[in-house]
Amino acid sequence: MCGIVGYLGSQPAHPILIGGLKRLEYRGYDSAGIAVLEDGQLCIEKKKGKVADLEALIGDNQYSSTIGIGHTRWATHGEPNDLNAHPHLSNNGSLAIIHNGIIENYGALKEDLNQKGYAFKSDTDTEVFISFIEYIKESEGLSLEDAVRIALTKVVGAYAIAILSSDEPDKLIVARKGSPLVIGLGKDEFFVASDASPIIEYTNEVIYLEDEEIAIMQNGEYRVINTSDDSQNPQIQTIDIELEAIEKGGYEHFMLKEIFEQPKSIADCMRGRLKASTGQLVLGGIREYKQALINAEKITFVACGTSWHAGLVAEYIFEDLCRIPVEVEYASEFRYRNPIIKEGDIIVAISQSGETADTLAAIELAKDRGAIVFGIVNTVGSSISRVTHEGAYLHAGPEIGVASTKAFTAQITVLTMIALRIAHLKGTITERRYNELLVELEGVPDKVQQALDFNDKVETIADLFQDAKNFLYLGRGYNFPVALEGALKLKEISYIHAEGYPAAEMKHGPIALIDENMPVVVIATRDSSYDKVVSNIQEVKARKGVVIAIVTEGDVLIPKMADFTIEVPSTHEALMPLISVIPLQLLSYHIAVMRGANVDQPRNLAKSVTVE
Ligand code: M6R
Repeated sequence: MCGIVGYLGSQPAHPILIGGLKRLEYRGYDSAGIAVLEDGQLCIEKKKGKVADLEALIGDNQYSSTIGIGHTRWATHGEPNDLNAHPHLSNNGSLAIIHNGIIENYGALKEDLNQKGYAFKSDTDTEVFISFIEYIKESEGLSLEDAVRIALTKVVGAYAIAILSSDEPDKLIVARKGSPLVIGLGKDEFFVASDASPIIEYTNEVIYLEDEEIAIMQNGEYRVINTSDDSQNPQIQTIDIELEAIEKGGYEHFMLKEIFEQPKSIADCMRGRLKASTGQLVLGGIREYKQALINAEKITFVACGTSWHAGLVAEYIFEDLCRIPVEVEYASEFRYRNPIIKEGDIIVAISQSGETADTLAAIELAKDRGAIVFGIVNTVGSSISRVTHEGAYLHAGPEIGVASTKAFTAQITVLTMIALRIAHLKGTITERRYNELLVELEGVPDKVQQALDFNDKVETIADLFQDAKNFLYLGRGYNFPVALEGALKLKEISYIHAEGYPAAEMKHGPIALIDENMPVVVIATRDSSYDKVVSNIQEVKARKGVVIAIVTEGDVLIPKMADFTIEVPSTHEALMPLISVIPLQLLSYHIAVMRGANVDQPRNLAKSVTVE
């Protein structure tokens, strides 16, 4: 959460910083700000609200400085207002900082600095952090670089920081621990950002800073050290993200673009891995520890949010195909409850961003106890992809809308391929079923496109329900996690209360909520629990609930009972979540747009949740 950018070179920094903040705005949008060094003086512009509000504040005030830092905030300490917006100045005004993360011991540091006569303007941990650096610098007579390094050994928590100093106006210092930080290497210029998206229009050569590393950039040169002052030799990587992948490409919102990209993103995810005509299923990311997966007595998936829902789908698939018991854990619960993990146990972490703090902490815990950890990650070079033993990228392309859509279907696709590969090697699946599923999986992108072709119908239904106060989503078997995902999509972007339930559980409580004002979305595709779901629909109708049913094309029974039906193409039930989720994504999108909500940047949320 929070996006940070920085620039040092020969171009005016201000437009580069604003452009970068717009690319990173999905990470937080409570306030935005920049600091530049104009004629050796630190100039700060910051404002509550979006980057557009910051631009309006700056107006025609075009700075010519060629060094600067910028921040877009997701508030942790202190409400979102102008004062708490970053950058923050140190006590004597000579240092400016932007920070993504949380300094956990800031209270004690603040008290100590208060006693020494330091005053603070904001409620943030970040202002304490920069004044602490100033204090070390001044009291010990150190260079900025040494003061930063020593301060970093004394703070507890997570940080990605960038610091400017009016005393050393040609130097940019950045550091990270637990929050991501990428440095783009141009010709005699440097671009700093929380992820590569603000960098790729300038250079594709990057360094992903490691935890407790500090980079010092000055006069076209850079050095990386660690907090013990040892020189580091970071690897320069070449990234191949196309600019168009991070732009809206004619769509009104990133979310809509990403929903409609799914035929391609799912195909990209399978490209070079699956070829049904030859029975080929190659997954380089599970090569080294393949035997451990085959022998696994249990697999534990850890994830948050939508990625957790993908884990639930995977539970059904792995248990069904591989006959391996599966547990699916919220990373935030798993890490705090002394879970039973033995040496060699298998943990699979699922994450779009690869930066989710709770998932990262769960991985560290599992690794400490000797587990083998796989990462199923979308963002190339992200922290989770680097700390796991092995894993597979989604190859779904950057996902920018806060509501996860194409990452969900890509996660299920990758996990299905892994399950099929392991089941085939273990012999828990017949050759015939294996080949059938490969053919069916290869055909999913076309079927997702067919489901998308019903967009107009979904929009018409959305129009009728845009003022609903509550929604219930029901599904059974493979479609139960889809019900959870549909409810999450609706609540996070439209702010309508929605609950997902296993359809049969409805009668154990939620049925009491049903009346003529309760829309009930039932995922009722033709599968092994179809007849039971039909009964559940009748139970809802008997209580005057309004049923919107997602049905398999050609279904003639449910359209007679449900108030509205949306068809999706038929497929094997294990693959149905990839298709049945499409109308639910569209439904939430259209309802949110009709309610005037900010679909790509819903209130209180951020794309990567890098705080615990
Ligand atoms: O980047 P991750 O997949 O680790 O993120 C996990 C959740 O924060 C994320 O899925 C969140 O729930 C989305 N906003 C859901 O749309």
